[in-house]
Amino acid sequence: MDDDSRVTRRRVGDAEARRANRGWWDADADDYQAEHGGFLGDVDFVWCPEGLREADARLLGDLSGRRVLEVGAGAAAAARWLATQGAWPVAFDLSAGMLRHAAKAADTTGVRVPLVQADALALPFADRSFDIACTAFGAIPFVDDSAALLAEVHRVLRPGGRWVFSVTHPIEWI
Ligand SMILES: C[S@@+](CC[C@H](N)C(=O)[O-])C[C@H]1O[C@@H](n2cnc3c(N)ncnc32)[C@H](O)[C@@H]1O
Repeated sequence: MDDDSRVTRRRVGDAEARRANRGWWDADADDYQAEHGGFLGDVDFVWCPEGLREADARLLGDLSGRRVLEVGAGAAAAARWLATQGAWPVAFDLSAGMLRHAAKAADTTGVRVPLVQADALALPFADRSFDIACTAFGAIPFVDDSAALLAEVHRVLRPGGRWVFSVTHPIEWI
């Protein structure tokens, strides 16, 4: 039975939200990969639980030679797939636990991409340094201020760059 009487709501600052978010994903990383890793693959770009793949959808456009930022990459299967398509991907995630899975998959597949531990709200990248940014369910649903996240992605994209993301539509849970 749900016991809502013990739930309280209060505003938290950036630092506390980041700490809680990272702690949760670090704790959940092994379970997340055990549950979803097979479906996501090691070198594959799956946009959503419905199984739409970038190989079919081509939402990112031409990838050859493009600098691509994968936001909230988790185990970074998508970034590894992008590397096999001639792109220059960088994968980042807030969680060291998730990035450990990315490093392990790099060893098992031999496909290596730069892995960075960073918060999507404070990207350690120069202005206009990527042609494309993308994420399948990474970071956006987990930050307090998604508008600030969009502004950071905008900052690191070159003018005219492309930003494609998937998140759960609320209707999914009904
Ligand atoms: C649902 S998982 C998706 C991971 C991956 N994109 C995939 O398709 O499996 C969400 C990811 O977002 C990351 N994340 C959450 N908040 C973040 C933040 N503020 N900055 C960067 N990554 C974040 C989590 O650590 C986690 O790896």
